[in-house]
Amino acid sequence: MKNDLERMSIGNGAGSIKYPDQVARACKSPMSRIMVGSITLLPRDGNIGDVYYFHPQNFWSLNSLGLPNPGMEAYKKLLPEMVCVAHGAGKELWTSVAGFSPAEYAQMAVDCFGCGVDGVELNLSCPNVWKGDERKEIPSLNPELIREIVNTVHSLTYDKFGGVRFESIENSITIKLSPVEDDSRQEEIAEAILDTVEEVTLSNTVPDVQGLRVDGKPALAFRSDDADHHIKHRGGLAGAAVLKPNLVFVSRMKQLLGEDISVIACGGIFTGADAVRYIEAGACGIQCTTSYLEFKEQIFVDILMQLSDLVSV
Ligand SMILES: Cc1cc2nc3c(=O)[nH]c(=O)nc-3n(C[C@H](O)[C@H](O)[C@H](O)COP(=O)(O)O)c2cc1C
Repeated sequence: MKNDLERMSIGNGAGSIKYPDQVARACKSPMSRIMVGSITLLPRDGNIGDVYYFHPQNFWSLNSLGLPNPGMEAYKKLLPEMVCVAHGAGKELWTSVAGFSPAEYAQMAVDCFGCGVDGVELNLSCPNVWKGDERKEIPSLNPELIREIVNTVHSLTYDKFGGVRFESIENSITIKLSPVEDDSRQEEIAEAILDTVEEVTLSNTVPDVQGLRVDGKPALAFRSDDADHHIKHRGGLAGAAVLKPNLVFVSRMKQLLGEDISVIACGGIFTGADAVRYIEAGACGIQCTTSYLEFKEQIFVDILMQLSDLVSV
């Protein structure tokens, strides 16, 4: 297990690093993989109002950021330098992309690989993009759409990069899913993934959850934009509250996906012991978002020190 620890991918989950100064800070941590994004093709302001809350006693988070980011054109200028800084510190630099169509995912994957990134995570699972009172569909809950997106990404990257370069790129395209509890749904999703990617990140936030702050007010209170007059309180649940259900999901998906598809675990990791539980469930890497947002780079120092103690006994 000690060797596994050295090979293990450890990094931030998408949504926690978007800009060069954040990459520079992350380079001083023991992360092995830095995830930038999620990036959308066009710039987005995201939702407005109270869009993030961390419960200080129970350690869960709720968010409805809605993918704020400066858009792919801006990243084409920022990414080469981010890649250079990360590589200089011995780290991989990945991007997470969130398209509004299969073609958008493919275009952004090509642009990111063109900037020299080590890998692209297709965010198929954002639950926080709204148009008025309507929430955008979560692609990863639709097995046909998963296949269509990944196939479109593979064919455009093949057209652009061809041959040997394509093979290394193909192995560096991963997908991030929404958590699913239903057995038959899990089987359908696993079937859609087999033969399409070699790595999957489990999971994004639990969609459509409401929660209360310590003062009893709704944790989230947001509108999709200035034209939207209806304040909404639902968002994606993460942090300590998702650890147990996500462990069950990781273990079940690992069973269904087999040895050839690696699982990166993301959900409620605050300690080395949490990471060990995911490794025991079959994961070969971890990502932290809520714990990283709240406790910054120190969280990876703590997790790694605890992990090395736990696996050396
Ligand atoms: C504030 C916030 C923003 C997020 N933004 C993204 C995002 O842009 N893309 C994405 O794939 N996941 C995003 N997520 C989901 C996280 O990367 C992660 O999958 C989820 O929060 C579970 O991990 P955690 O318990 O460590 O937070 C976001 C989560 C939070 C809390």
